[in-house]
Amino acid sequence: MASEIGADDPDARVPSHSGAETAAIPAALGAFSTDAVAAEGLNAWFGSLHVLKNLSMSAKARSVTALIGPSGSGKSTLIRCFNRMHEEVRGARLTGKVIFDGNDVYAPGTDPVDVRRRIGMVFQRPTPFPTMSVLENTVCGLRLTTRLSKTETRARGEEALRRAGLWDEVKDRLNNPGGGLSGGQQQRLCIARALAVQPEVLLMDEPASALDPGSTLRIEELIEKLKTEYTVVIVTHNMQQATRVADSTVFMLDGEVIESGPTDVIFSRPSDKRTEDYVMGRFG
Ligand SMILES: Nc1ncnc2c1ncn2[C@@H]1O[C@H](COP(=O)(O)OP(=O)(O)OP(=O)(O)O)[C@@H](O)[C@H]1O
Ligand SMILES: [Mg+2]
Repeated sequence: MASEIGADDPDARVPSHSGAETAAIPAALGAFSTDAVAAEGLNAWFGSLHVLKNLSMSAKARSVTALIGPSGSGKSTLIRCFNRMHEEVRGARLTGKVIFDGNDVYAPGTDPVDVRRRIGMVFQRPTPFPTMSVLENTVCGLRLTTRLSKTETRARGEEALRRAGLWDEVKDRLNNPGGGLSGGQQQRLCIARALAVQPEVLLMDEPASALDPGSTLRIEELIEKLKTEYTVVIVTHNMQQATRVADSTVFMLDGEVIESGPTDVIFSRPSDKRTEDYVMGRFG
């Protein structure tokens, strides 16, 4: 499972996908593609509300892709479609494809739990279980998906906490409640939880929006490190943050991709007037 499954979604499960006829893209295409994850002709609805409209975009492997756009443009919905979280929302459905590692994650026979393990997610507000210990919080996703010994589990927990840049701050209080950490530490704890299941892609929905500047900087430094091993997709409303951390930027408006490309191009020489207006802070 992805860490924090269901943390901000209703509990209902609605079988949803209707466009699952194609399983794999040609092997040759997969072999030459540097895209880790790509949406192809994605449409998503909440009931009758059409939220993503024939959307195509991709995120390159071992790099950071920022999703920017005004509130309600569909950024969170898009990343929830990437790891099959969208279908967990009551009344939600989608059509189209999400190609990951050469296959459509919505192809028949694909296990959503496996997709969520490989494509992990971190939400906007840190959501550790407050009374569960720091170590238990880190490994709780792992416990659900694997059968590791206590020693192996602890080692995986330590490794994840190190990768999340939190180990030094918590190594002496691994058995204390997760709720006792600061906001910035809790956010890194949630990142550690996502990393503990060894995902290949990390989706982050505004991971620093509730943090002070110091904690925000730590998260950004961490993202910079993570991209050497993972594909990172980050949703952000902070334009400076996008320019600091993202290699590529995708600008969304009303469920469509208006423009995408290298971050410096999107911010300094966008080709669409709407992109320019947005990145200059003229709307949204
Ligand atoms: N669970 C839900 N049920 C019904 N409608 C929803 C649900 N979640 C999102 N929506 C609607 O889908 C549209 C896209 O929402 P989404 O959360 O993807 O936008 P966003 O770009 O992430 O916005 P923000 O920047 O405010 O987080 C909005 O109109 C929103 O109201
Ligand atoms: Mg959102």
